Amino acid sequence: MSLLFLSTTDSPDPWVEEFRRQMPELDLRVWPETGDPHDIRYALVWKPPPGELRRLPALEVMFSLGAGVDALLGDPELPDLPLVRMVEHGLTEGMAEYVALQALYWHRNMHAYLASQRGGVWQPLPERLARERRVGILGLGELGSAAARTLAGLGFDAAGWSRTQRQLPGIACLHGRDGLDTLLARSEILVCLLPLTPETRGILDARTFSRLPRGAVVINAARGAHVVDADLLEALASGRLAGASLDVFTREPLPPDHPFWSHPAIVVTPHAAAPTHARTATASVVEQIRRHRAGLPLTNLVDRSRGY
Ligand code: NAP
Ligand code: GLV
Repeated sequence: MSLLFLSTTDSPDPWVEEFRRQMPELDLRVWPETGDPHDIRYALVWKPPPGELRRLPALEVMFSLGAGVDALLGDPELPDLPLVRMVEHGLTEGMAEYVALQALYWHRNMHAYLASQRGGVWQPLPERLARERRVGILGLGELGSAAARTLAGLGFDAAGWSRTQRQLPGIACLHGRDGLDTLLARSEILVCLLPLTPETRGILDARTFSRLPRGAVVINAARGAHVVDADLLEALASGRLAGASLDVFTREPLPPDHPFWSHPAIVVTPHAAAPTHARTATASVVEQIRRHRAGLPLTNLVDRSRGY
C-alpha cells in the first residue's frame, strides 16, 4: 500500500518525517520519484500538474493538502475518485487566530494608530467594546464556524451565512439569498470564508459592499477570486468601506505593481492565514487511510456537484 506525496509548492520533508512516525507501515513515495505507478493507492496532493493523477491506474483516494479544492476541481483531467479535503485542527485553529487578529485590528483602531505613530501623532480615538461591534461571517463550515465561535468568545456580536441552515450556539445563523442581505446590513466587519465555486466567485463586489453599513471593513481569507478588485478599490475610494484585510488574491504571489500593495487602507498578508500543519494534517490523513482500509466511510469528502 503506497501513498504518493505530490505537491508542486510544499517541501515533502516534514510530511515524510510525520508519516514515518505516525504510519511506519506506509510506503511513502515523493513525486516525481513515483516508482511503479501501479503501487499507488492514495495521493496527497497540492497543485499537481494537470493530468498527473490520471497516470496512477490503481489510485483509490485523493487527499487535498488544503481545505479549498477549487484548483483541483478546475482540472478537467481529475480522476473520478473520492476526493477528501483537508480538515485538521491546526489549520482550523490557525484560521480562527487570523480572523480574530484582523477583526481586533480594525475594531480597536490599530490601523489608524499605526498611521498616527508613523506621523508622531498622539491621537486616542473613541473605543467600543466587542459586544457593540457586529461581525458577519460568509461561510459557516469548518473554518467559518470556528472563526465565528472565536469572535463570539471575544464578545463580538457575531452572525454567519451559509447555503443551508446551520445552528451555532450564540451565533445568528442566516442562509440563502434573503439571509445574505440581512447579514450584510448588520456587518460592520465582514469576513469571507466561503469556498470558491461558480456561485461564490465575485461575491465581494459593488452590490455586496453597497449593502454593508457605511465604513465597514472586509476580511477575505478564502480565495482571491471572491473579490472584484476594481469594486473593492472603488468602495474604499468612496468611503463605503473603511478598510480591508486580504490574505488571498486572484494572482498569487500578488504582482509587484498591484495597487493593493501600497493602498493605505488595505492590509496584505501572503496567503498565510491558515497553513496546513504537517503534524496534525498527517494524523488526519492517517486516520482516513485506516478507515478506508477497514471498509469504513471516508469523512470530509468533496461533493463535486456542489463544488466544495
Ligand atoms: P467548508 O467546511 O466546506 O465550509 C464552506 C461553507 O461555505 C459552508 O458553510 C457552506 O454552506 C458555505 N457555502 C458554500 N457555498 C455557499 C453558497 N453558494 N452560499 C452560501 N454559503 C455557501 O469549507 P472550510 O473548510 O470552512 O473552508 C472554506 C474556504 O477557506 C476554503 O474553501 C478555502 O478556499 C479557504 N481557505 C483559505 C485558507 C488561507 O490560508 N487563506 C486556508 C484554508 C482554507 P453549507 O454549510 O450550507 O454547506
Ligand atoms: C489554503 O488556502 C487551503 O485551501 O487550505
